[in-house]
Order: sequence, then structure tokens, then C-alpha cells
Amino acid sequence: MTAGTAAGAAGGFGTVLVVDFGAQYAQLIARRVRECEVYSEIVPSSITASEVAARRPAGVILSGGPASVHVDGAPSLDPDIYGLGVPVLGICYGAQLIAEQLGGSVGRNERGEYGRAEMTVAHGGGTLLSDLPASQPVWMSHFDAIVDPPPGAAVTASTATSPVAAFEDRGRGLYGVQFHPEVQHTPHGLQVIERFLRRGCGAGPSWSMDSIIDASVAAVRDQVGEGRAICGLSGGVDSAVAAALVHRAIGDQLACVLVDTGLLRLGEADQVEETFGRHFGIDLVRVDAAEEFFGALAGVTEPETKRKIVGEQFIRAFERARHQVPDASFLVQGTLYPDVIESGATTHSSTIKSHHNVGGLPDDLDFELVEPLRLLFKDEVRAVGAELGLPDEIVHRQPFPGPGLAVRIIGEVTPSAAATLRRADAIVREELRNAGLEREIWQSFAVLPDIRTVGVMGDERTYGRPVVIRAVTSADAMTADWARLPHDVLEAMSSRVIAEVPGVNRVVYDITSKPPATIEWE
Ligand code: XMP
Repeated sequence: MTAGTAAGAAGGFGTVLVVDFGAQYAQLIARRVRECEVYSEIVPSSITASEVAARRPAGVILSGGPASVHVDGAPSLDPDIYGLGVPVLGICYGAQLIAEQLGGSVGRNERGEYGRAEMTVAHGGGTLLSDLPASQPVWMSHFDAIVDPPPGAAVTASTATSPVAAFEDRGRGLYGVQFHPEVQHTPHGLQVIERFLRRGCGAGPSWSMDSIIDASVAAVRDQVGEGRAICGLSGGVDSAVAAALVHRAIGDQLACVLVDTGLLRLGEADQVEETFGRHFGIDLVRVDAAEEFFGALAGVTEPETKRKIVGEQFIRAFERARHQVPDASFLVQGTLYPDVIESGATTHSSTIKSHHNVGGLPDDLDFELVEPLRLLFKDEVRAVGAELGLPDEIVHRQPFPGPGLAVRIIGEVTPSAAATLRRADAIVREELRNAGLEREIWQSFAVLPDIRTVGVMGDERTYGRPVVIRAVTSADAMTADWARLPHDVLEAMSSRVIAEVPGVNRVVYDITSKPPATIEWE
């Protein structure tokens, strides 16, 4: 495949560049900037002053990071960036770097400062803190601490441990905060970021749903021209929003493919067909491939082999569908910004989402990629989807693994096991929705382990299968905690599964976090 151009490129928006000294921190900062309706992009710390100048950003934010400025090889910044006349805000490590590079000093504390601290505003608080409470809680996470700000900068806040919790030199456009304004534990943090953007950078609100959609639509039209595009729909949020956006741009030049693997959730294939085929009037090719999938999976119990088989079958089914759209030369993918950043690609190169994604198609398919979501975070994707008129059930759908129910059926994946699990899974999700908890839970589903258990129903002894309920809270699936679901919700799930799903005589709840367990069972 060849690389496509990035849709929604930032032309026309006042961009803020977030320099990455620690990936998790940088992503959160970039999201907060966008919450303030200013477009942000993450850039590596190796970026040079001339590269920054060429982008003509409204401002630059240096993220926090795990390093100490005193360690050999600690990541640094091209010092000429400070001389570009572009306002710079350093956060934690970023603030220490500014101090260190511009003639201030950073010392080692006896003990670091971690967690909540009470911060006292000084000298009226300056650009970032004036008119915020004179004393306020902030979240700290640092070992080193700034001792002296750069000459000419005023200290605008301190804590008991950090004499320089915030500094600024408005004339030179230099700002530093030792605390983390991007985390929720700093209650006024978002306001601090907003003050930097509005007052420090003069960046007004411009990054809105309308502007995102307009820019993406224009970019897709530009890329595809009179060509034809094809998009695989999985039922998930990303592919759904990508398809809706591309459809808005090029109308019936888009065809969608829906592969019913037999491993989707209850009613999922029909709902996708209803939404995209009937509601949007998109040319939809549905491939009913369940028989082939189950045939290939017969007798297979090893988890990785199952995943591989599902992947291969998916490609075959997609290829079959493709013959029905022979003139398509563009492939739409729902790649998101975090995938782009994590794969190390810049916004100008392209990446194929393959990890954790059965829709990961092989490289030798001769398509040019169209990735209209590659600059967006997940919450933005959902907002775009809602704005484009996608139904709530799709926009707020929980993540679902590419191999579908195959990773939730332990042992052999048979049509009857899939039918059992599909019914139990539908009940679990329905009861969660009835309890109004769907949006608080990252994923909730049922698992069918490969064991038998004894029970008694009526007068009869049963020898059935247990169903495991798994529900987790998480921010990014990297770590997760088991959800403390109310007992009455669990009870409703349990009694309905027993009453409504034949062959199941026991329901258990998985109370393991990740790590050590994974979210899925295999
Ligand atoms: P684990 O189970 O590794 O899952 O904690 C983390 C996230 O990834 C999803 N997941 C998968 N997605 N193919 C996918 O497309 C897979 O093989 C796969 N395994 C796990 C899982 O649902 C969770 O959101």
C-alpha cells in the first residue's frame, strides 16, 4: 500500500506543538489543548528551531518526562527555539529544562514531591495564575526542583517543597510550571493551560467539531478526487466514523464492506447494515462468511492459532467483497492519532493499523490509504461521529477485539458456543446499559470458559457451562481495574443469563485487574 496524505491537516488553525519528553504526558497535554479548542500536534524533542519556525505555531509546550536534567543524555531542546518569538510553556521536566538552558538552576531535592501539594500564588500570579485562587491544590511528580528561574523571569507560585512552582517572563514569552496542569488532580489545571493559549499565545478557539469535519472533508476530496474508495466496517467506532466522514466527502464514490464473521455481537451486523446501508444510503457489500470462519476454526483450541485463522479468513472474505468494487483504489482506515504517535510515524507519513486489529490487511493489497481520523483522539472521533448523525449505540460502543467472540470462547470455537456466548454477552451489556453505567465502563462482556459445572435446576441435576462476566474500568486498555459493579446489577445479569441462556448453569465475576491479568481471557 502507498501512504496517503493526512486528512484534516492543520492549515488554517493556530497550532500548538507539544514537544514529547514522555509519551503519556505529551498525549494528555495535547488532548487538553484541544479541549480548549486549539489544534495541537505532538512532535519529537529532536525537532529543530527551523522546523518549528516552518510550522509557524501559535505556541510550544514542553511536556513532562521521566528523566532528570542532570543525567547525561537527558533529552534536551534546540535552544534556538527560545529565540523564535514563539511563546513556550514548560511543564515539570519541560519547565526544568527551560530553567537549565536559559541560565536558571535546577537542584536535587532531599526527597521529591509526589502527589497533591498546596500551591501559593505570588506576585499576582502573572499571565497563568492571576484571578485563580491564591492558594490551590496542584499535582506534583518530580524529584529535581527549579531553584532559580531564568534571569528576568518572575516566580509566580511556590509550594512548601518547590520554591519555584511557576515562573514566567511574559516579555520573552517564557512560562514554566513545576506542577502538572494537564491532570485532573490539578483542579485549575485546564484554566492554566487555557490562559497560556489565550493570553500567552493569543490563540482563540478555532478547533471545533465543525472545523474538524470541514477540514477532513476537504482533505479527503482532495486526495480521492474522482476515484473510488472502499472501507471495511467492523461495527466499531473508528471504522464507522471514518466511513461516515468519507461518505460526507465523496458520497457514492465510497463502498463499504461488512464481513459477518459469525463472531460479532448480537445484532451487530444487522445494525451496521441498517445504519450504513439504509440510513446513510451507502453502497454496502455484506459478506456472510460465518460458515467459512467456523469451518477453519473447527478443532482449534490454541489462542494464537485462533487469532491467526480469524485474520486469514477475514482477508479472504474481504478479497471476495473487493471483487464487487473492482475500481476501488483507495482503502479507508480508522487509524487514530495515538496509533500514529505510537508507531513513531510523523503526521506526514502513513501507518497501517495492524496490531490488535483483524482489519489489518496485508501490505501487498494495492491501495492508497485514506485515514481521515489520523489526527484525532478517540473522544474527538466520538464527537465527530455524533455530529455526523451516527446513532449513540455506535458512537459510544465499547472497544471490541478484531477476532471478536473467538477470544472470549476458551477452547474450540463452534457455532453453538458462539450462540451461547452471544446471548450471555447481550444480557451483560443490556443490564449495564439499564443501570446507566455503560459510559463509565471501558469494556463489559461475557466469557465462555471450557469447563463444565454441576448445578440443579428444578428437580434436575445439570452439567452445564459457566459464564464469566468481565467488566473493567480503564483509560487506554494498557492498565485496567475490575469494575466495582453494584451487586444488584450483577444479580440482574446473573439471573437473566441463567434463565435465558440454555446450557449455562453458573455465573461468576472476574475480579482481577490488568496487570496481572489481561482484559480479554485469551
Ligand atoms: P488485553 O486483553 O490485551 O486487551 O488486555 C487490551 C485491549 O485490546 C483488545 N484486544 C484485541 N483487539 N485483537 C483486537 O483487535 C485482538 O486479538 C485483541 N486482544 C485484545 C481488548 O478488547 C482490549 O480493549
